[in-house]
Amino acid sequence: MTRTSTIYICQTCGAETRQFFGRCSTCGEWNSVVEEVISTSNLRPKRKGSNHSNELLDNRSQRISSLQEKSVKRISSGYKELDRVLGGGLVPGSLVLIGGDPGIGKSTLLLQSATEMARYKSILYITAEESSNQVQLRWNRLGKADSDLHLLAETDLEAILNEIERFNPAVAIIDSIQAIHDETIGSTPGSVTQVRECSAALQRIAKAKNITLLIVGHITKEGMLAGPKVLEHLVDAVLTFEGDRFASHRILRTIKNRFGATNELGVFEMQGKGLIEVNNPSELFLDSENAPGIATIVSCEGTRPLAIDLQALINQTSYPSPRRTATGIETNRLHQILAVVEKHMNIALSRYDCYLAVAGGLAVEEPAADLGIAAAVISSYKKTALPKGTVLIGEIGLGGQLRSVGQMQLRLREAERLGFKTAIIPKATNKDSLSKQEGKIDIQEVSNINEVFEI
Ligand code: TYD
Ligand code: MG
Repeated sequence: MTRTSTIYICQTCGAETRQFFGRCSTCGEWNSVVEEVISTSNLRPKRKGSNHSNELLDNRSQRISSLQEKSVKRISSGYKELDRVLGGGLVPGSLVLIGGDPGIGKSTLLLQSATEMARYKSILYITAEESSNQVQLRWNRLGKADSDLHLLAETDLEAILNEIERFNPAVAIIDSIQAIHDETIGSTPGSVTQVRECSAALQRIAKAKNITLLIVGHITKEGMLAGPKVLEHLVDAVLTFEGDRFASHRILRTIKNRFGATNELGVFEMQGKGLIEVNNPSELFLDSENAPGIATIVSCEGTRPLAIDLQALINQTSYPSPRRTATGIETNRLHQILAVVEKHMNIALSRYDCYLAVAGGLAVEEPAADLGIAAAVISSYKKTALPKGTVLIGEIGLGGQLRSVGQMQLRLREAERLGFKTAIIPKATNKDSLSKQEGKIDIQEVSNINEVFEI
């Protein structure tokens, strides 16, 4: 018999209470608690493979050194950029969650990758959001005619599990986790309980049958992966697909990866025939012009250096307090750098508005961009362009001193490859890491912010 009860679940952190609260008492989020009806009996019969009890009885611990190393053969996703973000391809039996804003291209990316993988593996694409007809139309538009990809349009979890078990694919794609539901649970699709239970059931079958699962997840308006944090804990890797809706390039990032490094970055471009890989992304983020207020930095995302232009506009303010806006850079970081410039270079920036933007709509979180920000600001203030072919890399301390940043050699090599002539870097940089530099690029070492502008 099924008994139902009502509980209140925070959609942000997944905390459960018996009473309604306007603010979650666990994570402090407002208006995130939602009423959910759950059934207490589990009608669904236990699936084969989900019951490990016999195995558990004779499962003993072993010395780690005596364990036989299993070599994992990763499955290539068909796209170098996607493989790079995954740490070299998909690991069999793993769960990968891909999040992103609506319309950013998650379905397109996975459909393209599934088509490529279907050339040498059995692949099942499960669409819960679109009809098979819609997916087929898109697939035709992508111009992929010779592929063995299988498609299932289904939202019921039980039916999905049955088809996975029957078809037994190497990789199954689920688009999206918020759209599928388990009938035995009373709550609506997309709610915390549904997402949690559906992903757990999917995980059990994936681990038991060594199937790789690629799961699409939605993003809330705050930019968090919708559903409880447990979903992020459950899966082996979390990727996000982001980009400016008005620009054509899309960036794939790793947030978590049990089988590779995080902070890796893959770049794609959305075109009329789907997503195209961008192998040389630096060119996307560089302006060819050399105008006042533009400075070039080399930011490092994971192991990938990217040369990026920063643009600043400094204008006398007509407001009581100056306006400061930054896109792609944290506003607090900008405030701090402006304060350092004002104090140590004697420039009265408090009477000026300051607007800062990263070219191409990219977000730069690294402190290595500090020097570039300061240079762009000062260049705009003095209405003088920076010398052509110069990159600036370094973190600025509150005392105006320059601090070294990691992966300097990678960054310099990228600048050199792109034809930059001069690099301004902090004096404190570890000299060993630079000794192997080929030397086509002129390296100027500086110890504080004033010295930079003497150069
Ligand atoms: P989609 O993959 O449906 O996004 P998501 O699954 O993340 O919601 O991407 C849809 C957008 O991509 C849509 O606005 C149209 C655009 N698009 C192209 O520009 N070119 C194409 O070839 C395809 C298939 C989509
Ligand atoms: Mg979609």
